Amino acid sequence: MRTEVLTARLVADRARVDACLEALFDSRSDDARTATAPRLDAAMHHGVMVGGKRLRPVLVYAAGRALGADDDALDAPAMALELIHAYSLVHDDLPAMDDDDLRRGQPTVHRAFDEATAVLAGDALQALAFEVLARAAPPRLPALMLTLAHAAGRDGMVGGQALDLAAVGGQPSVEVLATMHAHKTGALIRAAVRLGGLIAVDDDDPRMTALDVYAQAIGLAFQIHDDVLDVTGDTATLGKLSGADAARHKPTYPSLLGLEGARVRANELIEEAIAALAPLGSAKDPLACLARYMIERDH
Ligand code: IPE
Ligand code: IPE
Ligand code: MG
Ligand code: MG
Ligand code: MG
Repeated sequence: MRTEVLTARLVADRARVDACLEALFDSRSDDARTATAPRLDAAMHHGVMVGGKRLRPVLVYAAGRALGADDDALDAPAMALELIHAYSLVHDDLPAMDDDDLRRGQPTVHRAFDEATAVLAGDALQALAFEVLARAAPPRLPALMLTLAHAAGRDGMVGGQALDLAAVGGQPSVEVLATMHAHKTGALIRAAVRLGGLIAVDDDDPRMTALDVYAQAIGLAFQIHDDVLDVTGDTATLGKLSGADAARHKPTYPSLLGLEGARVRANELIEEAIAALAPLGSAKDPLACLARYMIERDH
């Protein structure tokens, strides 16, 4: 699959989920109940709609299509993943966590509003994700809800964030760092691929196993590349402060393996991910291109 085709698809899928999310916020602002909390609504909108690559929704669409799902059926899980991801970023940026002022090229939610509103906006976005999924009532809804809850919570993203905070100032082994990354970032990426797949087929379809191996590898590679970009990127391109990990004494792949070592590991993982897609036949191509994009992106 050619780069131009991947780029066109990325642009189209981003536009698709953006339109769905904007419609979701519009429908909520029509609701008289929301008039009682306009500041919260504005903070939620800021946290979701201001920028973002939409990679988790893009993965939902790509994995679902690869197994034969219709785009319409993938909109709700795509939105749900982005809502959970956006909430995770709003909380990640809080002074009690990474204390960042810039996100997606704009002031972070607690900077644009205030800390209490940012906490509440994150909480509400997480609940909204489950509401969106439940309202769509797709087949296999219990499995979808369970997957999302597990990926978001203590055994997934939130647990990984706790490991991240506990690791500040330390020098963990590469294995411990991989566990931390697999949880704080890998879990939602794995869930995106699994939700897309589950819209199309049952869990016992052998292609689901192939997709899961793929998803775990790209999830870890994605965070390794995020660590690399923190060293090599500039703030304007990243839309967030570069050099922040070193300034906050965060253990990262570049800090443990060096920049080149981190890049080599990310590349190995992407090759593993692509190799795992063999059972999908030619349906694998968009997913393989996306895997490469995970570590070639400049922001
Ligand atoms: C940033 O994720 C946080 C990590 C998990 C590394 P993205 O790089 O996907 O951020 P956006 O959504 O494009 O802003
Ligand atoms: C974020 O990891 C993981 C989340 C669950 C949000 P980082 O702290 O490295 O993400 P950035 O660099 O702030 O986007
Ligand atoms: Mg963080
Ligand atoms: Mg951060
Ligand atoms: Mg980072």
